[in-house]
Amino acid sequence: MYQLDGLPSRVTVYEVGARDGLQNEKAIVPVEVKAEFIDRLADAGHTVIEATSFVHPKWVPQLADSGELLEILERRPGIRYPVLVPNMRGLERALASGIEEIAVFASATETFANKNLNRGLDSQFEMFEPVVAGALEAGLRVRAYVSMVFGDPWEGPTPVAQVVDVGNRLLDLGCYELSLGDTIGVGTPGHAAALISAFGSPERLAVHFHDTYGQALANTLAALRSGVTVVDASTGGIGGCPYAESATGNLATEDLVWMLQGLGIETGLDLDKLVATSVWLASRLGRPSPSRVVQALAKG
Ligand code: HMG
Ligand code: MG
Repeated sequence: MYQLDGLPSRVTVYEVGARDGLQNEKAIVPVEVKAEFIDRLADAGHTVIEATSFVHPKWVPQLADSGELLEILERRPGIRYPVLVPNMRGLERALASGIEEIAVFASATETFANKNLNRGLDSQFEMFEPVVAGALEAGLRVRAYVSMVFGDPWEGPTPVAQVVDVGNRLLDLGCYELSLGDTIGVGTPGHAAALISAFGSPERLAVHFHDTYGQALANTLAALRSGVTVVDASTGGIGGCPYAESATGNLATEDLVWMLQGLGIETGLDLDKLVATSVWLASRLGRPSPSRVVQALAKG
């Protein structure tokens, strides 16, 4: 085993394929296929599977079936199934589905807040505050995302201090974790390390890197060296954001697990089962997985 100094011995992979992945597919995937997908992810050893979103169905029609999905999904003990919730209507719907964990998602930039949430940089918080308070009161865990942490397509590079300000405001609401979203994949490892360091402590941070410029794995390694131990990834590298056209897929779970295994870092995940799931999903989506590791291993 060839290890590197300064890395954690265990990493939690926060799987976003069923939400971030499927929200960006052109085709609407049948709800039964979504349920089977999530079941396969559980079989492969995932303990956190972001299942879907309770956003406005017109804004993301791909996930309009969230209520139905949670009705047919057999939720297993010991596995967390968080969902995205932007506002009180979303929280009501999530509570009606018996959800135990939600994630709110803020923007680090004004333009993306407008495009993704129909709110400004400041007024997005008026929407989130009652959601987080209500969810905590109902005994839910609340995660937070901050998007466009390195740059956005309209405003260019995002100032680090602006990301730290938005991120800390979310943590101060009572969110247990803040996931740093490189929505359009423009970050590089030094920028990732600088952002994490600017927060002062990596303890409540997770990273959520899209692979648009092929930097997601390198940025993840930099984040791990900076003390982060929770990494978001998407099965087969599917994903994107419907309100940021240049966003492509997330860091592929298989690419991440290949690297972590090679470094001797525990994840509890079965790589063969992950690859088999991506091959199965690709056949349902009608296009090959963009993950390099899936492509290499599926050739077998
Ligand atoms: P809005 O149009 O301002 O909503 O949208 P509104 O509050 O004005 O309400 C308008 C109507 O929508 C009302 O109905 C509401 O009840 C209804 P009416 O009274 O007119 O009949 N409504 C809802 N219905 C169902 N579920 C709801 C809901 N909310 C309102 N939750 C809103 C504001 C936030 C709802 C909208 O902008 C939205 O849904 N945005 C979500 C966009 C999205 O999901 N983007 C992708 C996820 S973010 C991402 O991918 C980035 C991430 O991966 C991290 C990264 O990569 O950086 C997380
Ligand atoms: Mg994303």
